[in-house]
Amino acid sequence: MKKIDKILRSMTKEEKASITVGFSRKGKEIYPKGAAGITFPVPRLGVPSVVMADGPAGVRIDTEGGTKFGISYPCESNLACTFNTELVKDIGGCIGKDARNYGIDIILAPALNIQRDPLGGRNFEYFSEDPCLIAKMGTAYVKGVQSSGTGACIKHLACNNRETDRGKYSAEIDERTLREVYLSAFREVVFESSPYCIMTAYNKINGIYTSADASLTKEIVFGEWAYDGMIMSDWGADGDNIERVRAQNDLYMEGNAEKCEEIISAVECGTLSEEEIEICSRHILGTVMRTHSAKGTKPSGKLDITHLDISEKAAVESIVLLENKDMLPLDCEKISLFGNAQRHPVIGGLGAGDVNTCPYSSFRDALKSRFSLGKTADEIYKNCPRKPIGFDEDENPENDVWEVNLSEDAAAKAAEESDAAIVFISRLTREGKDHTPRKGDYRLNERERNTLITVSNAFHMREKKVCVVLDVGNPIEVESWKRYADALVFLGYAGQRSAEALASILRGEKTPSARLAFSIPVACEDSPAHESFLTDNLQIPYNEGIFVGYRYYEKMNKRCSYSFGYGLSYTQFRCGDLKIVERTDSQLVMSQTVKNVGMRGGKHAALLYVSKPDCGDLAQAKRQLIAFSKTSLLSPGEEETVFFHITKEALYTWKKDKGFVLLKGKYIFEGEEQKFIHINF
Ligand code: BGC
Repeated sequence: MKKIDKILRSMTKEEKASITVGFSRKGKEIYPKGAAGITFPVPRLGVPSVVMADGPAGVRIDTEGGTKFGISYPCESNLACTFNTELVKDIGGCIGKDARNYGIDIILAPALNIQRDPLGGRNFEYFSEDPCLIAKMGTAYVKGVQSSGTGACIKHLACNNRETDRGKYSAEIDERTLREVYLSAFREVVFESSPYCIMTAYNKINGIYTSADASLTKEIVFGEWAYDGMIMSDWGADGDNIERVRAQNDLYMEGNAEKCEEIISAVECGTLSEEEIEICSRHILGTVMRTHSAKGTKPSGKLDITHLDISEKAAVESIVLLENKDMLPLDCEKISLFGNAQRHPVIGGLGAGDVNTCPYSSFRDALKSRFSLGKTADEIYKNCPRKPIGFDEDENPENDVWEVNLSEDAAAKAAEESDAAIVFISRLTREGKDHTPRKGDYRLNERERNTLITVSNAFHMREKKVCVVLDVGNPIEVESWKRYADALVFLGYAGQRSAEALASILRGEKTPSARLAFSIPVACEDSPAHESFLTDNLQIPYNEGIFVGYRYYEKMNKRCSYSFGYGLSYTQFRCGDLKIVERTDSQLVMSQTVKNVGMRGGKHAALLYVSKPDCGDLAQAKRQLIAFSKTSLLSPGEEETVFFHITKEALYTWKKDKGFVLLKGKYIFEGEEQKFIHINF
């Protein structure tokens, strides 16, 4: 602190104003190329320029003609499906080290927004629809990143749950919902892991841009949460620049000369006091002086490729097995592959969540090293194109001419010559654009559907089975066609080792242990956010309140195709009674035994839900996730006790005029296999 005080005392008014505005990759030569932005340096006082880069699935920088690449890890939504916080911490650690190796001080991740609707364009960059899962995953991720000395930046505070008009819409939301659902993961991650930075969102909340909202940043984050890092705007966010400084949104990214001038003149003419810019400068300096650049850490310039194996490990644990009618693991010799994605995997989404990575295997390559491939299908898909990215695909997703049009004869021949079929369905997802309920987007296009039905008929007629793999960033409609598949695998975007991870699961070298971090509704229209999601109205009512995702489906008794937390294994587990291990004023610890009673080794993620007491007009979810814990790899017959740690705060309800309170009444805890414990508070 003394050092910061000293620097601040020596800084001119102009320097203090300037440091609250950063530089963009457009405005200034930034190294490494493709990094997202840098801060204003004051070399005479030893204040360096700090380099920031995206993003959640790995370091995003330019390849510089193929000489540099980032490692693409499973996207956040996949990481959450692992329900394994240790593993997510390891991934964070790898990303932090990758950043350090390339001279990056702050990684612009993790994103902690709620997956409010299945059509959200950035859902893949967000962990889950559940705030508790997001908080635990976010904490693990940040701890991992920061263990390498790289700073993490949690984003986008808050309610950036839709991409359409993201710079203009206003989330119209009541305070309880905001606190309990949309801010709660940010709060917990701040408390548990002290991230270096927080990035605000593009949108408004209740009519005020988050980039210039004093009630959010100054009062809640710095005030209530006693946050000790720095806050920055999202890149090019709208909102008044002067109000931004007053709101203690310390740093405007990405800045330009004009934004800087505005602040300098406001200080000169007294509309902004020197004290106000000094508060922001202090936050910025405090963060800048913790970074690699300030400490003089020399980047190695090289990537540690052992991280690829950790990426694969996480990919394996993130693959959710949704259906398995005695098909997987495959113990046959010859398989036929269908769908263009077999040669063109989608390993991640586009935008800030993208990574410019080195070449990676296709699904076909990885499966070919484990099975022999049927010649007919292999020949047909030999030169199939990658799904186009561009205008036509956006405007006209049902246009499926690029997809191979499979004939009945070809499917029959393939079924004759192989033992099983795998059909790949892929979707691209990107920042800046939401999905639509249309064919080729949320729904299958004609050719995809035709391929699936034709393959299914041909193989089933010969008593052979069909597995469908969903290489997608969001849930898609499965209800109308899932009966055609004997096995259904939600691969998600599992990063550059997607193909190897998938192949090891299909072959049975690994046992699936992931559970859905989101619901797959019967139809996207079932989502409580659906109507407000597609509207052109810029006032988006968050009418579903705290009933986001599964909380809504459970409340309305609405069946999902696959519910939050769903996921199969190749082995079976039996769980013991839920037990209280410790109960103090501040926390509750429960445990449950998990025994592998099947024939294969496997891990099991145990989930714990709570039902809170209703209190007047404060309706509660039937149940909400409160903790989870994953076993280690258990051999057949092996048993492990897992522990659930529940802080008192995690049980709080937000009450108008009172804030967070522990409501009096009965709390019902529900462990695995519907084992319950009732506790009165
Ligand atoms: C995204 C952020 C990202 C930033 C810098 C923005 O468009 O919303 O998530 O970190 O760009 O690339």
